[in-house]
Amino acid sequence: MSPKPDLTLRYMTLADVPQVTAIDRLSFDLPWSERSYAYEINESEHSFMVVLEASRELPIAGWRRLLGLNGGTRIERRIVGYGGLWNIGPEAHISTIAVHPQARGRGWGEVLLLAMMRRALALRAVEVVLEVRVSNERAQNLYRKHHFRTVGVKQGYYRNNDEDAYDMRLNIENAAARQQIEASYQALYEQHGFHDSYTRHKPPG
Ligand SMILES: CC(C)(COP(=O)(O)OP(=O)(O)OC[C@H]1O[C@@H](n2cnc3c(N)ncnc32)[C@H](O)[C@@H]1OP(=O)(O)O)[C@@H](O)C(=O)NCCC(=O)NCCS
Repeated sequence: MSPKPDLTLRYMTLADVPQVTAIDRLSFDLPWSERSYAYEINESEHSFMVVLEASRELPIAGWRRLLGLNGGTRIERRIVGYGGLWNIGPEAHISTIAVHPQARGRGWGEVLLLAMMRRALALRAVEVVLEVRVSNERAQNLYRKHHFRTVGVKQGYYRNNDEDAYDMRLNIENAAARQQIEASYQALYEQHGFHDSYTRHKPPG
């Protein structure tokens, strides 16, 4: 990707599933199946899946360039990260979040997390909850940076190696928490200048 691609947050569609599952397999020991994504996107009423897409303008090569088609450039779009949010009753559960390994460390995981937190606010959730492997310090740092607290340990939660999970939570009911999320989202928006149809609009259908 070029240093400053255009970024878009939007709802995940079925057409995104091949790219999303590719990132999933690179990111997790227990990746979800394509069928699971299709269910979350099309069938579940509680699911709010998001992708972060990066686009950049590239010069056209070959005969198209010789003909001068499209002004000599084309737009390349790539999904660089994704996330999943379930909203059941007062809980908004972050079910998954990943950034392509080659795109990590640019603040894009944070963009995805804050987008889901902002969607949780719009859904009037009381609490945002998630599980994270006890060995996954990178992700824990990300959650702590945004004020999640560890409230417990789920023993042997991950079935591939019986690893424990931290149960991390953030209450978003009070005005101070809401303001904090909005301020962090705004700061990221100013930093990255992304387009956002995920937190600004209701899901299609
Ligand atoms: C966790 C993950 C989504 C973070 O995405 P990212 O785009 O690399 O993270 P960002 O650049 O947005 O970093 C945001 C914060 O995360 C933490 N973080 C990110 N990378 C880190 C690293 N290598 N070491 C320690 N902390 C790190 C820091 O708190 C960082 O804030 P800072 O830059 O102010 O220090 C990404 O590492 C990933 O996809 N991991 C594999 C999948 C996964 O573990 N998902 C979480 C499941 S619970």
